[in-house]
Amino acid sequence: MSKQPLIELQNISFQYEQTKVLKDLSMSVEQGDYIALLGPNGSGKSTLLKIILGLLKPTEGKIRLFGETASKFKNREWIGYVSQKSNAFNGGFPATVKEVVASGLTKKLGLFKRRAANQEQLIDEALEAVDMRSFKNRNIGELSGGQQQRVFIARALISKPKMLILDEPTVGIDRENVAIFYALMEKLNRELHMTLILVTHDLNVIEKDITKVACLNGKIHYFGSKEGYEALTKEEISTWYSYSVQQEGTR
Ligand SMILES: Nc1ncnc2c1ncn2[C@@H]1O[C@H](COP(=O)(O)OP(=O)(O)O)[C@@H](O)[C@H]1O
Ligand SMILES: [Mg+2]
Repeated sequence: MSKQPLIELQNISFQYEQTKVLKDLSMSVEQGDYIALLGPNGSGKSTLLKIILGLLKPTEGKIRLFGETASKFKNREWIGYVSQKSNAFNGGFPATVKEVVASGLTKKLGLFKRRAANQEQLIDEALEAVDMRSFKNRNIGELSGGQQQRVFIARALISKPKMLILDEPTVGIDRENVAIFYALMEKLNRELHMTLILVTHDLNVIEKDITKVACLNGKIHYFGSKEGYEALTKEEISTWYSYSVQQEGTR
């Protein structure tokens, strides 16, 4: 029996009112994958994530999440998400680290359900996982970009997702914190068996621990092993990145 994919995208197309963004895109994500989703700016990466998260509906195609048709999928908290904006967080926002992390629980609990009895413990565990427990009572605005990012990762982890999707996580983060970030991702993937999708426009950075690479620019030009990606020629890759879904006719 083959493993059931956590995410299965079949022939997905998407357009905003005027702009065609994704075309006939198919890929699947399996338990334990650590995927780099690469694509230049405007290639449709964030749009694809919003489709996976159920925030946008594809114009065409099928999505299955954890074996279930997307429209019937109830366990949205299984898919953790750290948005592109969380590193450029407004420093003036008056919230403690603890409050930011706890806000990751409200979605799961619902507005009128009582607080999780073990909320304090869940916060501690999530902060422990990103090595930020000692910052629990600090104001989020006092922390560095890299530290804020770890707090937002803890916020995503608190609802115990089975996979984590991070949109442009290394943008605006200094070198030292990028290294800490990748070490954290490796720990989540290797030790906690968390399935990861890292989205980046930096086409040259393939971290050593990544297992699969997806190249997106309107459509998926490559999806496969990291070794397969590394065997590709520069010329091949550059043709994908000059591809334009807009210039192609309607399929
Ligand atoms: N809400 C929107 N309405 C119309 N066009 C959009 C919207 N969001 C993104 N786009 C356009 O869709 C394309 C893909 O955007 P996006 O998915 O954000 O790419 P990426 O994350 O790879 O930079 C771009 O041309 C962008 O301008
Ligand atoms: Mg984006």
